Amino acid sequence: MAQLWKGRFKKELAKETNDFNSSISFDCRMFEEDIKGSIAHATMLGACGVIQKEESEKIASELSNILNEIKSGELEIDMSAEDIHTFIEGDLTSRLDSLGKKLHTARSRNDQVALDIRMVLKKETDKIINMLKKLVSVLVLKAEENKETIMPGYTHLQRAQPITLAHHLLAYCFMLLRDISRLDDAKKRMNFSPLGSGALAGTTYPINRDLTADLLGFEGPCKNSLDGVSDRDFCIEIASVLSLVMVHLSRFCEEIILWCSWEFKFIELDDAFSTGSSIMPQKKNPDIAELVRGKSGRVFGDLTTLLTIMKGLPLAYNKDMQEDKEAIFDAVDTVKMCLCAFTPMIETMSVLKENMRAAAAKGFINATDCADYLVSKGLPFRDAYKATGEAVALCIENGSTLETLSLEEYKSVCPLFEYDVFDAINLEKCVFNRISKGGPAIESVENQIKEIKENIYNQ
Ligand code: ARG
Repeated sequence: MAQLWKGRFKKELAKETNDFNSSISFDCRMFEEDIKGSIAHATMLGACGVIQKEESEKIASELSNILNEIKSGELEIDMSAEDIHTFIEGDLTSRLDSLGKKLHTARSRNDQVALDIRMVLKKETDKIINMLKKLVSVLVLKAEENKETIMPGYTHLQRAQPITLAHHLLAYCFMLLRDISRLDDAKKRMNFSPLGSGALAGTTYPINRDLTADLLGFEGPCKNSLDGVSDRDFCIEIASVLSLVMVHLSRFCEEIILWCSWEFKFIELDDAFSTGSSIMPQKKNPDIAELVRGKSGRVFGDLTTLLTIMKGLPLAYNKDMQEDKEAIFDAVDTVKMCLCAFTPMIETMSVLKENMRAAAAKGFINATDCADYLVSKGLPFRDAYKATGEAVALCIENGSTLETLSLEEYKSVCPLFEYDVFDAINLEKCVFNRISKGGPAIESVENQIKEIKENIYNQ
């Protein structure tokens, strides 16, 4: 397909140059946004008298035809074109001849491409927000079913203190809610239209930038034309939030993978979300969780790509910026793909409550409660800590647990121990007395669930 910028050139572009220079293979996905942006631009040119009203209407209606034809498959995008902007304008011109050539008045591909990416990302960000909300609501459902499912909580991957599965799952809900709010926030900053920035220095035509911004659902035009065409902060911001989403999913996946192992056996994934081995008949592998964990690397890579592309660029547009799209689209697509597989995997997993409870009974995870018991008998915490440590050492020596130690043995490390210690170290009590805000007690968990629900439904 011929270039739009002939005139100054005497030779056709070398095929290698065209292939290297072309971005249509990855910017063709912006066809709808490109056409809608052009319709708004043409409408504005007509409204401002830069072209005649009838001309702008004709251009807009032919652009709508092009949009419908591409959507229906009647019009195929020419992959030899330089980019989607060139293709649409070229096709319009082939239909309207000299009228089509008026569309690019008071516009540059620099403001056009910046507009298209913003429009695509607005749409994609909304989709990801909805997918994250869906995941949060699935987690809340699972949490509601597991408010009394006691499991060990860990630090350093060593059994630490008793919690419930609900409490654990809600921790992820709060991470994801922060991601949703970060995306919302990034969307607000992205919601300004670069259209009318021209190549870099605005235009002498009497255009109305507020009108195009308004027609396209932006809060207003970007405030500075140089910034309007040079800014890709919004791509970097979204890629960075998406990287954080992947950090959260990846940490969760790591736990899913551990929990599926025979060493833990806290959960079992549904057959539809697991895979087998080609040689070991007994295997049921958590491949989806592993892939999500692995794909986090791609998204971090996309963020690094964007940061590196932008860091040395003088104002305003530089062709390096064409590389932004593959990176940000890959980040968006990867996160969507991961959420698509991850959410139903969580929704369908079975929780092996007895195994969680059995694991919680080992590892002395009620030792802090035992020390707190001595504090309630008047011992300073540091002394209580030491006495309990000695009781644990005794258990390890005898192969017993804090529950099975005799009162005499307890008294041998501290005379303040009485029979009621057994009540104080009862796991159920240890968990359900942790009523501090944000804790694992049923009441605290219910408050957290309430807050999460309010947060999702109010946004
Ligand atoms: N395909 C180009 C991109 O994605 C469009 C902008 C071209 N602008 C230019 N001055 N060559 O960045």
